[in-house]
Amino acid sequence: MSQTSKRLGKFIVLEGIDGAGKSTHIDFIAETIRAAHGVQVLITREPGGTPLAEKIRELVLHQAMDVQTEVLLVAAARRDHVRQLIGPALERGDWVLCDRFVDSTRAYQGGGGGVDLGWIDGINREVSGPLEPDRVILFDLPSQIAAARRGGRGGHGDRFEAQDVAYFERVRDVYLTQMRPGAQEKTSILNAELDVSRIQMELQKIIINI
Ligand code: TYD
Repeated sequence: MSQTSKRLGKFIVLEGIDGAGKSTHIDFIAETIRAAHGVQVLITREPGGTPLAEKIRELVLHQAMDVQTEVLLVAAARRDHVRQLIGPALERGDWVLCDRFVDSTRAYQGGGGGVDLGWIDGINREVSGPLEPDRVILFDLPSQIAAARRGGRGGHGDRFEAQDVAYFERVRDVYLTQMRPGAQEKTSILNAELDVSRIQMELQKIIINI
């Protein structure tokens, strides 16, 4: 895709199971990037980020469907998101901070849902082509603790949050042990059990070194 070949900005992705704390830290991360690197930061999310992709998000989160359909819909949303929003922002020189990207599809539909990871990787390559995150920050937390946190905040009641602990344990396992080829050295794993100020210290170190 041409818009990714001329990119000047950096592409930062947050990953982790539901309840691991991405939303708690996303504004801090954006602020820290701005302060450390003197750039504009676009915050966005997947599935979503464009009007079309946000409509697809509603379907994927709330409409019952089989898991391969989930893959195809998040892929359609991703294609629109990359072409309409992420690619142009990176070309302008802005940094993009994205709440979830291709590793969520591998972890949720692949690990949680049992879809073949090779099939997912092939689709992701077709859809987002050469666009690779410069850094993935993985918020890691045991599934039991994440479930307790989700319970505590009431939850949004979407289809994924309704899954059991075993599902999230499989999701976590793909994040930790079956990373995409080449992703290991670009992924920073954060212990999301630490308190907020400790996590912020770790985030600062990661961000300064991007
Ligand atoms: P999430 O990022 O947790 O947002 P919120 O904090 O509003 O709940 O919700 C998005 C959900 O979408 C999450 O449960 C994981 C799911 N998802 C997939 O299953 N596959 C994907 O490829 C992506 C991007 C998300």
